[in-house]
Amino acid sequence: MSTELRILVVPGALRERSLNRALARAAVREAPDGVAMALHELHGIPLYDGDVEAAGMPEPVAAWRAAIAGADALLFCTPEYNSSVPGVLKNAIDWASRGPDSPLGGKPAAIAGASPGRFGTVRSQTHLRQVLQFCGVEVMAKPELYHAQAAGLVGEDGEWRDPEALERLRTHLEAFAVWVRARG
Ligand SMILES: Cc1cc2nc3c(=O)[nH]c(=O)nc-3n(C[C@H](O)[C@H](O)[C@H](O)COP(=O)(O)O)c2cc1C
Repeated sequence: MSTELRILVVPGALRERSLNRALARAAVREAPDGVAMALHELHGIPLYDGDVEAAGMPEPVAAWRAAIAGADALLFCTPEYNSSVPGVLKNAIDWASRGPDSPLGGKPAAIAGASPGRFGTVRSQTHLRQVLQFCGVEVMAKPELYHAQAAGLVGEDGEWRDPEALERLRTHLEAFAVWVRARG
């Protein structure tokens, strides 16, 4: 691990005005001292197909895997779809999990999420934690970060603006950086 912690921030949504993409951009802006946050979007990753994999990893998949490999840690910003992880994110994790050279093994990660509903992605995060742990990812247990009723937390420009929500995000990022560093 270099002295500057490299954290890859992964939003589990594609749409332009996504709350979770906005949360991921806010995480990049609010990076604690000594932490370099890089956004990795999942656009262009095809649906997992073993025949395509056998012919060689498609370029967006290779780029996704390389980005994970080059990071010290991962931060997932996930929506909740039907009480679980959106297919976009699960599919990307499936691609990254493949082969003995999967970059996920042993990688530390944290999870955050935002939803306009009352539960703030708690069910999605529970499932994502289970999937990641199966892939060998070490997921930070606490603190957790759930943003419920999050439509009111972004400004007209679609960016994360609510001061209290930003403070909770900063606290989460700082705790994550401390936890990753403590692992050595
Ligand atoms: C297929 C689908 C299923 C959804 N299921 C849930 C759900 O189970 N729980 C929830 O809180 N919101 C649910 N929602 C609403 C999403 O939380 C909301 O669309 C959110 O804004 C999506 O995240 P994003 O803003 O990052 O795109 C669902 C939305 C879609 C499209």
